[in-house]
Amino acid sequence: MNYHIITYGCQMNRNDSERIAGFLEKNGLKESLENKADIIFLNACSIRQSAIDRLYGKIKNLKKRNKKPIIVLTGCLLEKDKKKLSSLVDYVFTLEKIFSWNLPFLKEDKKRKTFYEITPKRKNVFALISIMSGCNNFCSYCVVPYTKGREFSRPAKDILQEVEGAVKSGFKEVWLLGQNVNSYRGEISFPKLLQEVNKIRGDFWIRFATSHPKDFSNDLINTIKKCKKITNYLHLPLQSGDNEILARMNRPYTREKYLKIIEDVRDAVPKISISTDIIVGFPGETEKNFRNTVDIFNKVRFDMMYIARYSPRVQTAAFKMKETVSPDEKRRREKILEELLKESNYKKNKKFLGKELKVFVLKESRKKGMILGKTEGYKNVIFRGSKKTLGNFVKLKIHGYSPWGLKGKINRK
Ligand code: 5AD
Ligand code: SF4
Repeated sequence: MNYHIITYGCQMNRNDSERIAGFLEKNGLKESLENKADIIFLNACSIRQSAIDRLYGKIKNLKKRNKKPIIVLTGCLLEKDKKKLSSLVDYVFTLEKIFSWNLPFLKEDKKRKTFYEITPKRKNVFALISIMSGCNNFCSYCVVPYTKGREFSRPAKDILQEVEGAVKSGFKEVWLLGQNVNSYRGEISFPKLLQEVNKIRGDFWIRFATSHPKDFSNDLINTIKKCKKITNYLHLPLQSGDNEILARMNRPYTREKYLKIIEDVRDAVPKISISTDIIVGFPGETEKNFRNTVDIFNKVRFDMMYIARYSPRVQTAAFKMKETVSPDEKRRREKILEELLKESNYKKNKKFLGKELKVFVLKESRKKGMILGKTEGYKNVIFRGSKKTLGNFVKLKIHGYSPWGLKGKINRK
């Protein structure tokens, strides 16, 4: 029996798919291309309506095939959405209950206790390692607390073992993942966990996501500073630069607190790259509120900004708030931020000209013959090279730049 998994959403979903794959292969299934698969697993995301729309489109498409595959739906979905979609697919399963998925060919590997004890079949050149899941924060726009439930932390010893295994088998980049890694509560704190991971022997980089500004500690800042393997890169979602909107988003920090964290982080690690998430057009966001987000951008000059137009989600608190920003206006605000980012990065990237950088090689670029890598600060670098470098570090001399990244040449000396 051939299976294929289609993944939507974030890094955590990608890691979940790797565990699903590990589980299926223990049961004797074989991975195949999408059009050769007897059974297709859709690992869904519902963070925004666009993700759900994409899912409907995909299901419709799969059903048009001559030999219709069995379609299984799982992932980060609300019960309501699962019910709605259930008539369109063959099975709908809760991800974490994988050991009781009622498929006739699943017989083996049923003794394990939790989903996270499944050995993932890794499909990326980096090792994704979920350390916690779920969320207790209930940001007013967000479905995650409803799709994933309350926070749950994996035992530190399991995580350390998993990292060690990944590093031993050659992975040079390790991602510690959670909706909110700062509230990791294993036997040890998150900074301590990072310190332990840093002690594992080998030449590899450590990245982690996502952090919440509300419980960002000095301990974590010092850990980033002290630990060599932790990359100079921080993803710290701001969502809005306006205190009124932050309060209505149920994000319990202020713009002043956020700016203070950035100041402290940069004092400790001057070279750190900082990225963020922003939502534009939250209910009630006025031009004045939005300008406060622009103002924070101008103060912080993020290296990357993932900008989302607000999308109402049932069950969330914000769903009951009246939408006041039109789709066109959301797009306009998004565009303003994109332009600022572009300008700022163009200037920042110029400073890398002539420098030699260590780069982790990710994948083939869409440009023929070119390869894409990431710097320690998570900037894109493209260079002419061979696929053999995938998953390894290379040293590149930077000779070109654009707003979205750098161009490099392999340094052969
Ligand atoms: N609408 C728009 N963006 C959202 N995000 C989460 N929920 C919504 C929503 N309802 C964004 C946030 C979060 C990122 C993963 O997705 O910026 O940090
Ligand atoms: Fe969603 Fe907020 Fe939890 Fe992030 S911290 S997953 S945005 S509720």
